[in-house]
Amino acid sequence: MKILGIETSCDETAAAVVEDGAKILSNVVVSQIDIFAEYGGVIPEVAARSHLEVMLPVIDKALEDASCTWDDIDAIAVTHAPGLLGSLLIGTLTARTLAVLHNKPLYAVHHLKSHVYANWLSDSLESGMINFLPEFPLLALVISGGHTQILYMKGHDQFEIVGTTKDDAVGECFDKAAKILGLPYPGGPAIAKAAKNGDANKYKFPHPKVEGLDFSFSGLKTAVLRAVQKEVGVPISYPSHKLKELLNEQQVADFAASFQKTAMEILCEKLDLALEEYPDAKSVVVAGGVSANEVLRGMLPEAFFPAPSLSGDNGAMVGAACYYEIQAGAKPVDPYKLNIYPRISIEN
Ligand code: KG4
Ligand code: ZN
Repeated sequence: MKILGIETSCDETAAAVVEDGAKILSNVVVSQIDIFAEYGGVIPEVAARSHLEVMLPVIDKALEDASCTWDDIDAIAVTHAPGLLGSLLIGTLTARTLAVLHNKPLYAVHHLKSHVYANWLSDSLESGMINFLPEFPLLALVISGGHTQILYMKGHDQFEIVGTTKDDAVGECFDKAAKILGLPYPGGPAIAKAAKNGDANKYKFPHPKVEGLDFSFSGLKTAVLRAVQKEVGVPISYPSHKLKELLNEQQVADFAASFQKTAMEILCEKLDLALEEYPDAKSVVVAGGVSANEVLRGMLPEAFFPAPSLSGDNGAMVGAACYYEIQAGAKPVDPYKLNIYPRISIEN
């Protein structure tokens, strides 16, 4: 079964053709990072406009790279939730139109489900030390720019949220810490790069005291802000966007390394707790943009991670998720009626 997966939930315009939920026949991702690096974050209206400009060429390229015509495509899958409203609209309206035009069944996929299913793509399995599929029941740590959740999965397409962030997502925290340190958007890769030359034990940041399996990351961002202000000798009223002018390269590297270590320790502590609470879990899978992080990969040698190129937003994971949803009994949606849900939970 060949599925065309379409993803436009944030600032990547992506389309891919995936066979049987595993084999990537093509995977085209056009990132808007260059546009937003300058602004230090995503501007939703600009993101939607750029999706509109490249959406159809991206889909054409995905079909061409896969050596497919529309006749070869068995279904279209599209991210309909959650994400930026304007961005989701471009992807879903395109998918709806194509489904009607080419008479293909249309499936709606939740963005976090697709991140999780990046782990079932054969590129991910080959890139890891392990060459078998994750086993159920499992725990999934989903860490992205918008979400930080621990999910318990009894089987395919069965998601139960067992832990979630009370405030910021961990990726968002990377992006905010990067801003304080004068590093570009997105903050995750920039912090990871700067941290390579830094001392991860130079600064100590407290771990939040949050009950159970829930997370909190807004305190860590503030702790970085206060530590930087202290380091450069300015009062707490000093504007955060001016701090970068007072930091030298080594200080940035040390802050980046110390912050990264703390953020990853917080994630691993909660995952350990989750494994205590769910001793029947046979696998741990990590997913979402932050799963690209090499320090985290080193800290969790037993866990499944997507191939690094599949950690961020892409169409292949949408195709994979759709395949397993169909296996679990999902039905096509009405292409004339499919709605978008910018904030809906994975449990709905
Ligand atoms: O999944 P994703 O591409 O988009 C969302 O669904 O949000 O995740 C983007 C997030 C950003 O916050 C980015 O800073 C973070 O993933 N990220 C990383 C790394 N690469 C991307 N965070 C830490 N380390 C990385 N190497
Ligand atoms: Zn994402």
